[in-house]
Amino acid sequence: MNTLIENTISFVKEKLAGAEAGHDWFHIERVWKLSKKIAETERCNTDIVELSALLHDIADPKFHNGDETIALTVSREFLENQHAEERTIEQVLFIIKNISFKNRGEAPENLPVELKIVQDADRIDAIGAIGIARTFNFGGFKNNLMYDPNIEPKLEMSKEEYKKSNGTTINHFYEKLLLLKDLMNTKEGKKIAEERHDFMLLFLDQFYKEWNVD
Ligand code: ADP
Ligand code: NI
Repeated sequence: MNTLIENTISFVKEKLAGAEAGHDWFHIERVWKLSKKIAETERCNTDIVELSALLHDIADPKFHNGDETIALTVSREFLENQHAEERTIEQVLFIIKNISFKNRGEAPENLPVELKIVQDADRIDAIGAIGIARTFNFGGFKNNLMYDPNIEPKLEMSKEEYKKSNGTTINHFYEKLLLLKDLMNTKEGKKIAEERHDFMLLFLDQFYKEWNVD
């Protein structure tokens, strides 16, 4: 492993100490590993993939009063201190800026393959058993209801509505998690997503069965 990657790992671990369990170092580690796995199936610059995966949630706006610029500032400062090339810094910052689900309406067209890979990896970690666990953890963190049969999912939310949403955690499956499978960019990503998608459907079936005690 090269020194820059090693230093980035230490930096991210330190920065994310005490983070919410769904957005902590272990989330980053899973996304990093998934990114490397997908990268093996694509022609890409693996350094850019790894650095972007490691830095993608360094300052998530959800936990910084909605500020979308901190992650870019923090990452640039770190990479400059590490004497990374300007071209590398720009490529990584572009990925961090455009990876997010809620920003998908604003992303430019013709995204670089390195972004597509890390975005798939991040989305894969949002679904399946881990995705379910992360989602309930985040819902609990926000003190949202797990489920309320009287609250319908909102399928066409604007970015602002999505960020403000205090809907139920079960609704988040319909508002985001179940949509991810069809948004995968890479063939390998899609393959991994399919199994996890099916597991969420199974989970939801069982959830309703247990909810509706008869
Ligand atoms: P991104 O950072 O890609 O824009 P999100 O902000 O949608 O992604 O959230 C990342 C993860 O945080 C989700 O996959 C989910 O686990 C959790 N999360 C976000 N919003 C909610 C919510 N309203 N209810 C439950 N979990 C959520
Ligand atoms: Ni993430």
